[in-house]
Amino acid sequence: MKAFYLAVAITGLAIYASARVVIQEEHDIQWYNCAGKPEGNYEHPSDCTRFISCSGEIASQRDCANCNVDPVRCPEGRTVYNASVDACLWADVTTCQVSPAPNKDPVRGAIIL
Ligand SMILES: *[C@@H]1O[C@H](CO)[C@@H](O)[C@H](O)[C@H]1NC(C)=O
Repeated sequence: MKAFYLAVAITGLAIYASARVVIQEEHDIQWYNCAGKPEGNYEHPSDCTRFISCSGEIASQRDCANCNVDPVRCPEGRTVYNASVDACLWADVTTCQVSPAPNKDPVRGAIIL
């Protein structure tokens, strides 16, 4: 029985790591133009830890899942959106294409959650 609970815990971690199913926050935005774009998710122009979702030409901004701040895996306190796999990933397995907003450097060792 212990092994079963361990397996459940590990599966839970794997889902969390890919972060695909976790939507932290979402709200409609006016500044992104979805017109003419297929439905789906797009890179946020200025924040790697968010992405834009176009649905019926309505744009909404979504946050990637929160993660404990780690200088390698989670420097921003949130996972990083990767458009080629359409998922939020740990920062060390994907490249941030845009520069993060200034003055947002998390304090090393801070606990977010
Ligand atoms: C997105 O993720 C894929 C698979 O992990 C990786 O091969 C690719 O380099 C990533 N893209 C960027 C821009 O980091």
